[in-house]
Amino acid sequence: METKGVTMQHVSRPKVIIGNWKMNKTVAETRSFVSGLGLNSVVRTFQVGLAVPYTMILTAAEAARGTAISIGAQNCSDHDEGAFTGEISCHMLKDAGASFVLVGHSERRQLFHETNALVNRKVKKSIAATLKPVVCIGETEEQHLSGKIENVLHDQILHSLKGLNPSEVEHLILAYEPIWAIGTGKTATPENIQFAHAYCRKVIASEWGKDTAEHTVILYGGSVKPENAAMILEQSDVDGLLVGGASLSLESFNKILNV
Ligand code: PGA
Repeated sequence: METKGVTMQHVSRPKVIIGNWKMNKTVAETRSFVSGLGLNSVVRTFQVGLAVPYTMILTAAEAARGTAISIGAQNCSDHDEGAFTGEISCHMLKDAGASFVLVGHSERRQLFHETNALVNRKVKKSIAATLKPVVCIGETEEQHLSGKIENVLHDQILHSLKGLNPSEVEHLILAYEPIWAIGTGKTATPENIQFAHAYCRKVIASEWGKDTAEHTVILYGGSVKPENAAMILEQSDVDGLLVGGASLSLESFNKILNV
């Protein structure tokens, strides 16, 4: 298949589903969710991750021990250590049991004013700490309606991943999350999602090479539910999902893993 100059044949990328719990769940809820999920055989079909609050990383990692579930964080500092009250470094996350970290989630970009430059520094810190970055990008509703998707995605990819080598880009995860679709119940159409993912792959190909682009895992996020997960996953450039609200209940998250 030819997608805007990037040949996608013969490449098998892992399928990944990550739940983003945001600011939810207690220790007891975390323990029971992770042990319940660990019993699910379908976890073998997808690589499954849970991005949990900082305070739940240790608990979740202990509950996930011996299962294929990866535990990750939702944010990290762009510093290694020192006088940064309230911050958590990538080394600390790794030490607590995280294997990946969401970087540049739109809520961080919008509510906490994170710029592409800060996201870029965080991505580099996470790679240095051998924590896989899940780099989030996506356009606002206004940018969507005014046809600026390509410009926005192009800029976010080039600036957030600036200075990385092809192997580093190939091993990170990119998450396309249109901001207007996050937590709103509005989902992009499968055609829109495929278009955006193919475009992201094209940008990666032009900057880091076709081979890198063919191997980079790109997830979709934004109001993913058991009812729409299958048709999103069917798109050829969609390698998995980043699930917010529907990852909070074991029942709906299990349904998504079973589509
Ligand atoms: P949502 O969140 O599934 O609740 O829309 C997705 C996300 O923020 O990653």
